[in-house]
Amino acid sequence: MKDLQYIQVADTNMLSMYFNDGRLYELYDLCFNTAPYFEDLKGNDVCKMFEEYLKNGILYLCLDDEKTVGFIATMPLLCKKDVYEVVKEHLVDASKYWYHADIGTHPQYRRMGIAKILFQTMLAKIPSSHIVMRTHEKNEASISLHSGFGFKRLTLADGTPIIQDVHQLRKAGHIEPDRRIFLIYEK
Ligand SMILES: CC(C)(COP(=O)(O)OP(=O)(O)OC[C@H]1O[C@@H](n2cnc3c(N)ncnc32)[C@H](O)[C@@H]1OP(=O)(O)O)[C@@H](O)C(=O)NCCC(=O)NCCS
Repeated sequence: MKDLQYIQVADTNMLSMYFNDGRLYELYDLCFNTAPYFEDLKGNDVCKMFEEYLKNGILYLCLDDEKTVGFIATMPLLCKKDVYEVVKEHLVDASKYWYHADIGTHPQYRRMGIAKILFQTMLAKIPSSHIVMRTHEKNEASISLHSGFGFKRLTLADGTPIIQDVHQLRKAGHIEPDRRIFLIYEK
């Protein structure tokens, strides 16, 4: 294992530093411009998203010297309205949940335990033991990673998964939906 550092982003100045030199955007793009997402992400949009994470929740990065190689972001579910609206009727008290909004590891650093450490670090920090997340129905890496932590699929009583179609601009040049499932963690 390399000598990696896990740091919490403390304020907007610190966040700007990682966006201004392109490091964080480049990492985010690498994580989501391939299967199963093929997202066409603009730097400004990614930056705004991370500003929201910082304003409402908790954001950690993993660094290898000067290189940003991982990130995780979590915030109260109430701050993520579109997800809250879909899952609220399927949870006992949705307002107590946190939303595990984002996680990614640089392709050259995968399967080294970075996402696992990021999640455990985040879990120790948030004031809730109830978490909901959303992932692509075919994102095997993410489903396997989170199942390992104890996340379970959010389903109807008969096992039908709760789903949401998320519309994004894709590399192919048009906006297309992709189907997401929800996973919940309750400890
Ligand atoms: C999902 C992702 C964050 C995993 O990051 P990672 O740092 O490689 O994960 P870890 O090394 O901590 O893996 C921990 C465990 O998760 C599971 N896992 C991780 N990647 C996996 C894969 N490609 N296939 C199957 N299981 C996988 C394994 O159980 C793994 O343990 P093991 O390596 O001992 O078998 C990474 O693949 C990624 O950035 N993907 C693109 C972005 C993304 O899809 N984010 C999730 C959006 S919801």
